[in-house]
Amino acid sequence: MKIGIVGGGQLAQMMIQAGASLGVSFALLALESDESATAICSEVHWVRGFDREGVAAFVAACDLVTFDHELVDPAVIESVPGAEAKVFPSARTLRLSANKARQREMLQAAGIPSPEFIIALDADQLRDAVGRIGYPAVAKAAHGGYDGRGVFYLWGPSDLDELVSRLPGAFELIVEPRLELEAELAVLVARSRSGRLSLYPVLRTVQLDSVCNEVWAPSGLDARLEETALDYGRRIAEAVESVGMLAIEMFVVNGEVLINELAPRPHNSGHLTIEACESSQFENHLRAVMDLPLGPTTLVVPAAAMVNLLGPADAVDLQAGLAPLLAVQGARPHLYHKSYRKGRKLGHVTALASSVEDALDVAREGAAAALSVPAGSGSL
Ligand SMILES: Nc1ncnc2c1ncn2[C@@H]1O[C@H](COP(=O)(O)OP(=O)(O)O)[C@@H](O)[C@H]1O
Ligand SMILES: [Mg+2]
Repeated sequence: MKIGIVGGGQLAQMMIQAGASLGVSFALLALESDESATAICSEVHWVRGFDREGVAAFVAACDLVTFDHELVDPAVIESVPGAEAKVFPSARTLRLSANKARQREMLQAAGIPSPEFIIALDADQLRDAVGRIGYPAVAKAAHGGYDGRGVFYLWGPSDLDELVSRLPGAFELIVEPRLELEAELAVLVARSRSGRLSLYPVLRTVQLDSVCNEVWAPSGLDARLEETALDYGRRIAEAVESVGMLAIEMFVVNGEVLINELAPRPHNSGHLTIEACESSQFENHLRAVMDLPLGPTTLVVPAAAMVNLLGPADAVDLQAGLAPLLAVQGARPHLYHKSYRKGRKLGHVTALASSVEDALDVAREGAAAALSVPAGSGSL
């Protein structure tokens, strides 16, 4: 069984790590850069972009194909012979879940609450939308944004003028109010090709400057909110007919759960499932895509926490940080084979403990140690 992964980032790396024990081999369709998984995969199809010819040749070379990101146009996938039987999630699922505007329309149609929003396709519509939503507002690129790229906070008219001056010729934005978030959650759903569902425990996430920074489980939220979040997760997975992992980011605002966005793949919020759950999100993604029985998703420990290794302002030597990281008892390292860049996700640290507080302490200490060696300080 050879599974092709479109994209070669850390999600692909962790899929490969999980798939090795299932006897799966892998090929990557990767852009020319220092992407994580290309360092550990023997078959890499290098491309300059995800056009029809390249994707078709890749699909032909693999038994099944899945994704590390959503940068392939669903129309490209639809045009590839045999894609329906080999590529998961499907083009339809990608259409519904890889574009924030389509996501919100789908949620509205399904009667699942999300923040109030208006779609804008040109500068006049954008100004009109912000006029109706009011300040502070958030404008988000409907497609292609991640880790806060494509999210613009509009505190007043000068921010709107600046955004308008930087807009490309054609765009699609959603505009919504900037909300006071009481908490952010993620619900992860594994759904197999034959429609079996398995949901992970609700995860609590903390974003810094719109980038995921910390995650923990159990969420600490009351049971009613967790049940609502899981119910929405189940309904959304059915509505978009996801195959593999579907991650759903949610806000708690005024004591109610609102859906923020979806990602039709394994997700940063679920990295702690590698150590903390019976089967990780990466293993279940592969099981679902292969239509094998899904693994149990229950926590095997009372609590777990994950802290991302985000490139700090001053360059660090991550390899030299490994020894200090490993000196922190209980801190589990995950390095992504990436060179340093400010703000870049370079890895993460997970810790398991009897309480969320203790797990967070260890994961934070491990992350700080990992990032503690300045670049060029001559260690070795
Ligand atoms: N309407 C909003 N009000 C307040 N914070 C928001 C809003 N929308 C997004 N954010 C913050 O920005 C983060 C990133 O936004 P998101 O829409 O998830 O974009 P991305 O695709 O970059 O993850 C969210 O997790 C949240 O912390
Ligand atoms: Mg997000």
